[in-house]
Amino acid sequence: MKSTRRPISRQVTATQLIERHCADILSSPGMDVERRCIQHGTTSIFAHSWAVTIRAIEFAQDHQIPVNERSLVRGTLLHDYFLYDWHVPDPSHRLHGYRHPGFACKNAVRDFGISPLEQSMVRHHMWPLTPTPPTCREGWILCLADKQVATRETAAGFARKLRLRQEDRANA
Ligand SMILES: [Fe+2]
Ligand SMILES: [Fe+2]
Repeated sequence: MKSTRRPISRQVTATQLIERHCADILSSPGMDVERRCIQHGTTSIFAHSWAVTIRAIEFAQDHQIPVNERSLVRGTLLHDYFLYDWHVPDPSHRLHGYRHPGFACKNAVRDFGISPLEQSMVRHHMWPLTPTPPTCREGWILCLADKQVATRETAAGFARKLRLRQEDRANA
């Protein structure tokens, strides 16, 4: 896969890069859907995708990895662009873990015309749950950042549940 790759400047913040490369995505109706749907714990899909993108950019900056900056940012922000609440029981949400990268990719091509590199990132971000590992460095960075952030969010949700249960018992 050919693309222009260079290390991301440390002079620019991750938030500035998201705003620079993703103005169209941030103002889209699809992002409003992401803001309304929960991903892990009490975290919305939008907040999750934002956190993963910040983490991916900072990882690339910290290690000065040559990347396609625009694709890293756009592909990561859109990695969970499946546009439904997977906690709602519905036959179309079955096997969500396996199938959502394909849904997200298809939606992102339709709404934003994402590049082949970005499509590859989105399609393989759930490895090793899905069989094919990432095929580009941007995809590997997304895959690692997603797991790190998802683990943090899930653990925070679990801790919150335990705390509430404890408070309920104390007040009973
Ligand atoms: Fe995902
Ligand atoms: Fe994710």
